[in-house]
Amino acid sequence: MCAVVLTVTGVLVAVLPEPEQEGHLLPGLARARGIDLGVAVAVDPLAHDRRYRGIVEDHYTSVTAENTMKWEHVQPERGEFDWSGPDAVVDFAAENGLNVRGHTMLWHNQQPDWLAGGDWDAESLSAVVHEHVTTVMERYRGRVSAWDVINEPLEDGGPDMRRNLWYEVLGPDYIAQTLYSAHAADPDAELYINEFGIETAGPKADALYALVSDLVERGVPLHGIGFQSHFVHGNVSEDLADQMRRYTDLGLEVAVTELDVRIPEPVTDEDLREQRGEYRDVLAACLEVEGCVNVTVWGVTDAHSWIPEWFPGTDAALPFDTAYRPKPALSGMVDALSRRGGRRPAPAGDPGRRTRPAR
Ligand code: G3I
Repeated sequence: MCAVVLTVTGVLVAVLPEPEQEGHLLPGLARARGIDLGVAVAVDPLAHDRRYRGIVEDHYTSVTAENTMKWEHVQPERGEFDWSGPDAVVDFAAENGLNVRGHTMLWHNQQPDWLAGGDWDAESLSAVVHEHVTTVMERYRGRVSAWDVINEPLEDGGPDMRRNLWYEVLGPDYIAQTLYSAHAADPDAELYINEFGIETAGPKADALYALVSDLVERGVPLHGIGFQSHFVHGNVSEDLADQMRRYTDLGLEVAVTELDVRIPEPVTDEDLREQRGEYRDVLAACLEVEGCVNVTVWGVTDAHSWIPEWFPGTDAALPFDTAYRPKPALSGMVDALSRRGGRRPAPAGDPGRRTRPAR
């Protein structure tokens, strides 16, 4: 991993490889530690941009479709399914030996007009949800290992349940109903609730924990909790591992599903060095928790990130820059996976390879 060279003064020094070379170690390191290291991908650059594709192939072990598996893209008109985008992602993953996280079934955003503006009662909406979930999950059965079945069920600031279409028409049990449909469609898929703002202790984190505890108590087929982890530089959760452990103690698995660390502009070299430590610490938190199975970064490069559009004045959230060059954050992830330094070193006796909790 590092070379030793003899300098002109006769002193032996260790030289760390360039981030570019180091990054190629990531898939092997992640697999050796028993987790997936994933990335969210967009269909167009995956098809047309060789460098974009190369970054994914060389650095990650799983992919999540950033948009193309969402309802507005998959079923833009009622009963008309468009598989072109999802197929492209799943086929790319298969060709490259990558796992796939499915994203997402029920979400309040990116719904087609016919769905968002429909005149629904409980019976008709239940039927449409069941049909959508069943059709999509049966198509990718065996090829998508985990699904974000429920996305962001709590209000942005928490702790109340989000008053989305599903809640308004079906009531709070829409979550259990949909999980049962998903489980019937693919009994081997890991079914997730994916949420943001739960990475740090607080009312929203507690509200999700209460909701999940109830589902687990009732035996609803729920297998994992996704911690989206859209962080701001300087404010990355310090108790992520503790929050994750609450769920693994319930017998669930957990994952960091949408990691990015946005930096307020102007972005300095010092910010990027600090961001390196932040990426390292998030990886280390996952590695610390038996049952944390995946860390996924939310986009391939800063040129493809959702951040500048949604949070103007912040940028540089991902491990590759807009020119596709690796940033210090990439070697921060290598650090964590190879146990080099960090706020949270691997606990003594960590067996290296980790196992999923019993289902
Ligand atoms: O589909 C239109 C296309 O027709 C149009 O030509 C193009 C022009 O800008 O826009 C396209 O829509 C974009 C869409 O992604 C693509 O499906 C929107 O502008 C863009 O705002 C939208 O943003 C996505 C966002 O979800 C929507 O809410 C981001 O790319 C995506 O990263 C983001 O992902 C979400 C996760 O799914 C859930 N967690 C939060 C995360 C960030 O919001």
